[in-house]
Amino acid sequence: MTSPYSSNQTLQAIAAVTPPSGAPRPRLTFLGTGYLGATYAICFAELGYEVLGVDVDAAKIDKLNAGAVPIHEPGLDELLTKNLTAGRLRFTTDYAHAAAFGDVHFLCVGTPQRPDGLAADLGYVESAIISLAPYLGRKALIVGKSTVPVGTAEWVEQLVGKHAPVTSEVEVAWSPEFLQEGFAVEDVLRPNRVIFGVKSEWALGMLHSAHKGVFDLAATEDRDVPVVITDFPTAELAKVAANAFLATKISFINAMAEVCEASGADVTQLARAIGYDPRIGNKFLRAGVGFGGACLPKDIRAFQARAQELGVGEALRFLHEADLINQRRRQRVIQLAAELLDRRYGPNGPDLGGVAVTVLGATFKPNSDDVRDSPALSVVRKLSRAGAHVTVYDPEGMANAAREVPEVTYALSLVDAVRGAELVCVLTEWDEFRNADPTAIGELVSGRRVIDGRNCLDPVIWARAGWEYRGMGRPSSR
Ligand code: UDX
Repeated sequence: MTSPYSSNQTLQAIAAVTPPSGAPRPRLTFLGTGYLGATYAICFAELGYEVLGVDVDAAKIDKLNAGAVPIHEPGLDELLTKNLTAGRLRFTTDYAHAAAFGDVHFLCVGTPQRPDGLAADLGYVESAIISLAPYLGRKALIVGKSTVPVGTAEWVEQLVGKHAPVTSEVEVAWSPEFLQEGFAVEDVLRPNRVIFGVKSEWALGMLHSAHKGVFDLAATEDRDVPVVITDFPTAELAKVAANAFLATKISFINAMAEVCEASGADVTQLARAIGYDPRIGNKFLRAGVGFGGACLPKDIRAFQARAQELGVGEALRFLHEADLINQRRRQRVIQLAAELLDRRYGPNGPDLGGVAVTVLGATFKPNSDDVRDSPALSVVRKLSRAGAHVTVYDPEGMANAAREVPEVTYALSLVDAVRGAELVCVLTEWDEFRNADPTAIGELVSGRRVIDGRNCLDPVIWARAGWEYRGMGRPSSR
C-alpha cells in the first residue's frame, strides 16, 4: 500500500496522537548506539525527550552511561554529560526494558557491505527487530533510520508482523538520516529536511510528535524545516539517491582533474569557474584523493546491487564509473610519488624501496577520527607495499589507523612525522596541515617534495619556500 499523504500536506493538519505509554511526549529509543544511534539519542535528549539508547555491546553501553562518547564528534561529549545528569538519557543492553519504555523505536544499526559482494548486509537490522518485537506489549512505532536497500521497510514490517504480539498493533515507518561526520550534532538538531515515509495517519502523528522538538527549535530561530511525507520506497531511496548524487559530483570533478592533468589546466580554478553557476553550485566540487568514509563508497555499491536485483542495473551503471574514478585518484598519488622521486614505474607499480615518505592525515576527512575506507589510509598501504618507509601523523585518527594498518610508523606530532622525509603527502585537509609553515617544515625534511592530495595548500607559497609541489589536477611546479 502506498502512502495516502502528499508532501505538500501541512503539518498543522496532522492529528495529535497520545503516546501509547501515556507520557506527555513520546518516549524514544535508539536501537544501535554506533555513530548514528549515539548521536541521535544524545541530541534528542537535548531536545527534551526521554531517551533510551540500546546496544548489544555491553562495554559501549557502560562507556556511554559513564559519560564517554565512543567516537570523536565535536560537541557530543558536553551534550552527553548534560543530558545524563538531567536524567533524560540512559543506555541499556536490555531489549525488554526498551520495549516497556518506548513509544517510538528508531532503528539505527549498521548496514555494512557484505563480504561476498556489493550488497548491504541486513543482519543487524534483522537481529534488532527480532530482539525487540516479542517484548512489545503495547502499540509502538518502529522507525527505520539505517541506510537500506529499497524494499527493506516492507520486509521489516513483515518481520515485525511475525515476531510482535498481534494485539500490540505495532507499526513501521521510515525516516532516513543525512548526518555528516564532524557536523552531526548540527545535522540532528537543525536538519535541512526530514523525510517521513508512512502508511497511516497514526504513524505520521507519532513521527510528528517525535520531531516536535526539532520543529520548535526551528521556530524559535525563525527557520523552516521542510518535511517530505511519502511512501516507504521513496523514503528509503531519498537516502541512497542523495549519497549517489554526492559521490557522483565528487567523481565528476575528479574526472575533470584527470583531464586537467592531461591538458595542463588547473581543476581548482575550473571548479570555481563552473561552481558560480547556481545550477551547479560550488559544494562537493573539491578534487583530490576522492571520497571515503562509512557511507558514500558502500552506499553506491549497495545501490547498484539493489538496482541489479530490480532489473534496472543499467540505470546505475554510471555509479560503477564513479567508483572507478574514485579508486584511480588513490593510485594517482603513487604515480606522483614515483615521478617526484624519479623512481621507475614498472608493470606492478613503482619501486619506492627504502624511501622515507611522511603521510599527513589518516582519517577520511578532517574533524573526525574515522578511518573507515579512508583514501589516506589506502594510499598509506599502497606506499608501504611499494617499499616506502611510511610515517603517518593525524591529529585524531592515529589509534584507529594503527589498528587498521599496523605495519607503518606513527609519529606523535607533525614535527616528528616530517623529520628526515624525502616526500611529504598531505592526504586529509586538517587545519593543522593547511596552516603549516613550509619554510619551518622545509628545515626538517631531507627532500622538499610535497604531494597535496586535497589541494589544500597554496602552491605558490610552498614553491617559494623551495618545495617541488604536486597537486591533484593542477599543473606541477618545480
Ligand atoms: C556523507 C553524506 O554527506 C551524508 O549526508 C550521509 O548521511 C553520510 O555520508 P560523510 O561520510 O560524513 O557524509 O562525509 P562527507 O562530508 O559527505 O564526505 C565524504 C567524502 O568525500 C570524504 O572522504 C571527503 O573528503 C570527500 N569529499 C567531499 C571530496 O573528496 N570532495 C568534496 O568536494 C567533498
